[in-house]
Amino acid sequence: QLSKLEILDRKNQEALLGGGQARIDAQHKKGKLTARERIDLLMDEGSFEEIGKFVMHRSKDFGLDKEYYLGDGVVTGYGTVNGRLVYVFSQDFTVFGGSLSETHAEKIVKIMDLAMKNGAPVLGLNDSGGARIQEGVVSLGGYADIFYKNTLASGVVPQLSAIMGPCAGGAVYSPAITDFILMVQDTSYMFVTGPNVVKTVTHENVTSEELGGASTHSAKSGVTHFTCANEVECINYLKRLLSYMPQNCEETAPTLPYESGLDEARPVLDSIIPENPNQPYDIREVIEGIIDADSFLEVHQNFAENIVVGFARLGGRSIGVVGNQPAVLAGVLDINASTKAARFVRFCDSFNIPLLVLEDVPGFLPGTDQEWRGIITNGAKLLYAFCEATVPRITVITRKAYGGAYDVMNSKHIGADMNYAWPTAEIAVMGAKGAAEIIFKREIAQAEDPEAKLQEKVDEYQQKFATPYRAAHRGFVDEVILPSQTRQKLIRAFKMLENKVDTLPRKKHGNIPL
Ligand code: COA
Repeated sequence: QLSKLEILDRKNQEALLGGGQARIDAQHKKGKLTARERIDLLMDEGSFEEIGKFVMHRSKDFGLDKEYYLGDGVVTGYGTVNGRLVYVFSQDFTVFGGSLSETHAEKIVKIMDLAMKNGAPVLGLNDSGGARIQEGVVSLGGYADIFYKNTLASGVVPQLSAIMGPCAGGAVYSPAITDFILMVQDTSYMFVTGPNVVKTVTHENVTSEELGGASTHSAKSGVTHFTCANEVECINYLKRLLSYMPQNCEETAPTLPYESGLDEARPVLDSIIPENPNQPYDIREVIEGIIDADSFLEVHQNFAENIVVGFARLGGRSIGVVGNQPAVLAGVLDINASTKAARFVRFCDSFNIPLLVLEDVPGFLPGTDQEWRGIITNGAKLLYAFCEATVPRITVITRKAYGGAYDVMNSKHIGADMNYAWPTAEIAVMGAKGAAEIIFKREIAQAEDPEAKLQEKVDEYQQKFATPYRAAHRGFVDEVILPSQTRQKLIRAFKMLENKVDTLPRKKHGNIPL
């Protein structure tokens, strides 16, 4: 006869084993960690408190009345990451393939409710075969409960999703609503319908990896924001990502100690912009040249590479950086770049993270492909996102700021707080050649030497407009600065803006062009 204390001990041991040692071994064989091992890696040592360890499913169909596991396929609870409170759920593939039952969903919803009431991030470690097939609609209802909570929590507390195994069917929509998705190379995949259904419907032969692996979603679809080489790297990314964020929308992100006066001047920036305005350079060099050493965490690194977005620190303060990338497609804005940057801007604005915009944009990408796929609606997303952002917003025009893209990229006119330009800035409606060809069309055609006339007019336009001074005369640019001064100017300006209060007109919510 076991004592009551021994019974509890027995149950605790049983819960820790999930679906049993054989399935744990199978999980390891696939190169995957178990739900609990992942939590151990993620949380500060000894800080994890589990909630609902003995929860079991309530189904009786298809033999489920004979198969019960304590915890029902998901480990949930709270603890700390680098000393800060977080809530976590970690799906246990060893229990019914981590599939989502009614009770599994209830456990997730329970910690989401706690997270919202107590203002702390929710981290989801996903590894699941989808809806628990034996439960039918009850399990689908469970998913919907989670989607609904994800949506209510959006903009209230940060929600991060790590995909560490399968995530298919309806299951994908919870991560999709959360703020960031991280996928593990080779062992995770996400798709709405799997390769078998795809083959039946579209006759395409595609593997799980091709259809929805980490590489696919980081480069092609942009569904994932981070691709991680393995699970340990994925957990480390989660921790690092959290360090740039506040706990909730009422707070600001933690600031690191910073001693001013040490490395404000950055002479390396004075020689980054090439003599020839059509020659590319890597905007990441400019970012690194401005921010605190080794503080850049790039988001969506392999997607829409013509724009670079990510978190950084400036004088210890967490900021979001958006920079056109002249090294890819000359830094034009296209559909993917616009949606990528718009979503990042909205995240930063939701969570009080100030925005730094580095601008070198020749305009929007022309062509039928872009127009037919809706560059108008999609470009408007970025415009809208900047317009409605109330966090401190600073722009530095490093080189080109042409056409409508000048307005879109956090211009003074749409609410930027401080706008700087480097002496290399060119702020105009379009490039000098295009401009001269249009406005002096007749003059050039009638000239004795049209080539020479064109060049004369190009030079004239270039001299007048391909500078930052017209904009500075108007006050659209607050100051023209030496590149090497940029870091110091930005540290001071963000400090000046740290108590900024700005509110939008009262409304239910805006109608961002989706
Ligand atoms: N519901 C209930 N049980 C499930 C399940 C689900 N959705 N998905 C997997 N399982 C169970 C399996 O029956 C198996 O149980 P066992 O350990 O008792 O044998 C266990 O989880 C592991 O699944 P298995 O198929 O052996 O693993 P795998 O790594 O070979 O394949 C999947 C993983 C996810 C590709 C595969 O299980 C699958 O296709 N599942 C169904 C996906 C789906 O269509 N879900 C519903 C749509 S939302």
